[in-house]
Amino acid sequence: MTKIVRTELDSYYYHYPAGATIVTSHANGRDNAMAVAWHTAISREAPIYLVSISPKRFTHGLIVESGEFAVNFMPMESGSLVAQIAGCSGADIDKFSELDIQGQPGNQVKASVLTDAQAAYECKVVGQHTYGDHDVFFGEIVAVQWEPSAFSAEGPLDLDAVQPILYLGEDYYASSKGSVEFKRGQPAQTS
Ligand SMILES: Cc1cc2nc3c(=O)[nH]c(=O)nc-3n(C[C@H](O)[C@H](O)[C@H](O)COP(=O)(O)O)c2cc1C
Repeated sequence: MTKIVRTELDSYYYHYPAGATIVTSHANGRDNAMAVAWHTAISREAPIYLVSISPKRFTHGLIVESGEFAVNFMPMESGSLVAQIAGCSGADIDKFSELDIQGQPGNQVKASVLTDAQAAYECKVVGQHTYGDHDVFFGEIVAVQWEPSAFSAEGPLDLDAVQPILYLGEDYYASSKGSVEFKRGQPAQTS
C-alpha cells in the first residue's frame, strides 16, 4: 500500500471506528446527555474510565459541578437518537424532555442510565486534566449496569443479540455484523 503522508492532521477520522457512547450528567437539578466518541478504559484495578470533553460542552460544567457522569453504551437502533443528542446543547434545551430520552438515575450516581443502553458505567471523577482543547475526566467506575441478554455466556457482547453503534466521523456510523475469536499466541486456524 502506498500511503499518503502529512505532518499536519487534516481530518481527525483515521482512528475510527469508535463506539459512539452517550455520556450523561446531572447537577443543579439539570440532566444532560451528549454523544462521546473519545473514551476508553485505562485501569482495571481500580477500574478507571476516561472521557474527553471540550469545555465548550454544557456537559463539561455539569461534570465539574457534580464530580459524576455515566457512560452509556448504545445499540445501532439508537443511532438517530445519538445524532439528535449530538446535534444540540443542553445550554439551549432540556434534551431529556425535548428528545424524549428515557433513563433512570444511576445506582451510585445521579447521572442517568439510559433505558436503551446495553450497558453503562457509573463514574465518580478522580482526576481531570486539560490536553489541548479538551479536558479528560478520569472516572472511577462505582457501578456497572448491563442488559444480560446482550452478553454471551463467556462474557463478551453477543453481536447476534445487540450491535453497538460505531462512529466513523462526520455524520457516519457503522454497525458490527459479527464476532470472531483469535486465540492469543496461536496462529490462525486454516482449513
Ligand atoms: C458521534 C459523536 C461523538 C462525539 N464525541 C465527542 C467527544 O468525545 N467529546 C466532545 O467534547 N464532543 C464530542 N462530540 C460533540 C458533542 O456530542 C456535541 O457538541 C454535543 O451537542 C454537546 O452537548 P452538550 O453541550 O449538551 O454537552 C461528538 C459528536 C458526535 C456526533
